[in-house]
Amino acid sequence: MIAAYQERCQQRVNEALDRLFIAPRDELSRLYEAMRYSVMNGGKRVRPLLAYAACEALGGAPELANGAACAVELIHAYSLVHDDLPAMDDDDLRRGQPTTHKAFDEATAILAGDGLQSLAFSVLGDSRLSPGDAETRLRMIITLAQAAGPAGMVGGQAIDLGSVGLKLDRNALETMHRHKTGALIEASVQLGALASGQASDDHLKALHTYALAIGLAFQVQDDILDVESDTATLGKRQGADIARDKPTYPALLGLEAAKAYALELRDLALTALRPFDVRADALRELARFIVARRH
Ligand code: IPE
Ligand code: IPE
Ligand code: MG
Ligand code: MG
Ligand code: MG
Repeated sequence: MIAAYQERCQQRVNEALDRLFIAPRDELSRLYEAMRYSVMNGGKRVRPLLAYAACEALGGAPELANGAACAVELIHAYSLVHDDLPAMDDDDLRRGQPTTHKAFDEATAILAGDGLQSLAFSVLGDSRLSPGDAETRLRMIITLAQAAGPAGMVGGQAIDLGSVGLKLDRNALETMHRHKTGALIEASVQLGALASGQASDDHLKALHTYALAIGLAFQVQDDILDVESDTATLGKRQGADIARDKPTYPALLGLEAAKAYALELRDLALTALRPFDVRADALRELARFIVARRH
């Protein structure tokens, strides 16, 4: 069930994303090409899926969340392009292909990331892709800005880079993961819910609890896969965290305890969805997928 749902949502978001990378003039073709390369290169599209599923959980048609879905994937793609740069994780493989700075050059990768970030907000403000009222669009823009910025993902990346070689305690590690990965996953769920036009404060609160749990679970599983998957399956270098002495859950707790924690978080997320009916089943499946995935 989840595989077919994933495929449908991937197709929907990929169609909408594909239209964004048409260079308005010849001089910009390389920049637009680098942006396209960074986004249209596979990727599980977990964040768009969460946006669509949250919208549907509240009774909204999935198309209402097209703007939200594109915006969160654009921010995610930008974060990966910059995460892979030599000044950050210095990785040469992403989604089974050379990273953007390897396929192009560093300056182009930095600019492509910058461009993707700006594009995310213009998409969210565009009423053709985000058809709700203007107030909802503004709320979505603020939510995404906070999640992507220094109090969210960018802050998490700063903590990450400042922690290389350090032994973080469990609290500090959780803070880092919640920021660098959890914040954008939370925003994906909130944006989808807002896009439905039917989100009550109670809905948003329950979805927030769900998203907090799966956001953390997502990065715990990412850390686990760095230990026990392989480069071909991952599409990125296995063992990169270990090689760089990154603080991770398996490093702190051991592999088995990290796996148990991921399952505990999944169950917390499922509990938070109890007030919702069958329309939240895709969100339930996504919680299961996030900790069962192999890449
Ligand atoms: C990888 O994210 C980076 C993290 C935030 C852990 P994904 O595992 O969602 O990467 P893609 O988009 O599928 O390549
Ligand atoms: C990435 O975390 C988080 C963001 C890009 C915000 P990682 O550095 O663990 O992601 P991968 O493993 O390179 O995909
Ligand atoms: Mg990193
Ligand atoms: Mg990385
Ligand atoms: Mg990782």
